[in-house]
Amino acid sequence: MASSSHAPLFVLFLLLLIPSLRTAPNATAVVSRIAFGSCANQSAPQPVWEAIVEFDPQVFIWLGDNVYGDNKRPFRVFGRERTVGPWKNVPRFYPATEEELRRKYELAKANPGYTKLRERAQVIGTWDDHDYGLNDAGKEFSGKVFTQRLLLDFLDEAEDSSRRQQAGVYTSYMFGPEGKRVKVIMLDTRYHRDPLLSDGSILGDPQWQWLERELHGPQSEITIIGSSIQVVSNLSATTGPLFYVESWARFPRERERLFRLIDSSKRNGVLFISGDVHFGEIARFDCGAQYPLYDITSSGLTQSVENSVPAVFRSIMRLLAVLTPTPMRVFTPNCRHKSCSYGQPNFGAIEIDWNSVPHHIKVELRDVQGNSVGGVQFPISELQPLNTVLNKKQGHSFELHCTLETELPWLVRYRLALLFFGTIAGFVIAVVLLSIACLSATNICPKKCKTS
Ligand SMILES: [Fe+2]
Repeated sequence: MASSSHAPLFVLFLLLLIPSLRTAPNATAVVSRIAFGSCANQSAPQPVWEAIVEFDPQVFIWLGDNVYGDNKRPFRVFGRERTVGPWKNVPRFYPATEEELRRKYELAKANPGYTKLRERAQVIGTWDDHDYGLNDAGKEFSGKVFTQRLLLDFLDEAEDSSRRQQAGVYTSYMFGPEGKRVKVIMLDTRYHRDPLLSDGSILGDPQWQWLERELHGPQSEITIIGSSIQVVSNLSATTGPLFYVESWARFPRERERLFRLIDSSKRNGVLFISGDVHFGEIARFDCGAQYPLYDITSSGLTQSVENSVPAVFRSIMRLLAVLTPTPMRVFTPNCRHKSCSYGQPNFGAIEIDWNSVPHHIKVELRDVQGNSVGGVQFPISELQPLNTVLNKKQGHSFELHCTLETELPWLVRYRLALLFFGTIAGFVIAVVLLSIACLSATNICPKKCKTS
């Protein structure tokens, strides 16, 4: 009698438990579907969540710019504040107040699509510059203590979590039972980062020591390292001096240290995921460790290079993407565009087939409808020493997936800049020649007219 009278209460208690059971799968549950993404403007429409929910991931990984926390001034050439050109005297970005940033996170968290995802999957993540507090900021940013607290609130980090006590948001997770383990390491590329162009540190000493322990720790079949900025691609080396993006390659010694650490840890199955650049691509470096190091970049959930320009310029952007030398990019027949990069909103989808022997992993970039725009699929055993196959492409002046962008022949590396400045030079020369021709014509005519 007593037990039946308490039954409704017991059922209610179980129902209350359901959301937490869903959002925190126990450590031994097999994880075979993981989604990831970056760069989500909280004020923009976010239809991509429907496609992510449809993919039905068990874990979703934020890779930074989870909100655009800092504020942006409009471009202004004339007037007291100039934010464009060599004469600019005001930074284009400035930090939000704590209250402003909290409101932005609340807006992002209230998005119905994202809410649906949080009910179904465990959401984890790190940050990039705009949610850290300021565009391109590093360790010098003074607001990082309160922005760390707000990010961890957004991620529902437990109040007593050690992550709330440390300097920076780096952390790790281990999913799955023995034999089917997936480790996820989330790096913090902001809190301790030295200034750009310093070739100093990205992670800082305490995080390096932690990472060393993580990589040497208990084994896992797959280890996903989440970095807000790209690890393998070095776009700036081939798009400079036209424009630059942040990446590990801009801190060459730090990146070399990362590859050496993975190599010396003898840890198999490591792959990177990254965000930041507002387009998606899959890159691979075969000369960093004893097996290929993949870096799957998904960016962004709302922000994208093609949506930042008028529609008529999109085909030009795709042409420029084809012309950009990319020795690390993985080209597969299933890419939507010839460049094998994707400049529209996208997310990353990882599927692990634990039933196949050997186990297989499939990593795709998907568009807002959930359709694949490119991807790779390989046995996990490919991410082990002795299985390295250097993909040497014949007839090229470089070795695919091995020659760094900075080692490309000069004419190849600066192809875009040469094209850009060559076009401007051609235009200027054409205008000058036309002017000379016009002047000559006006000089000749009066003389002829006078004579006649
Ligand atoms: Fe971004």
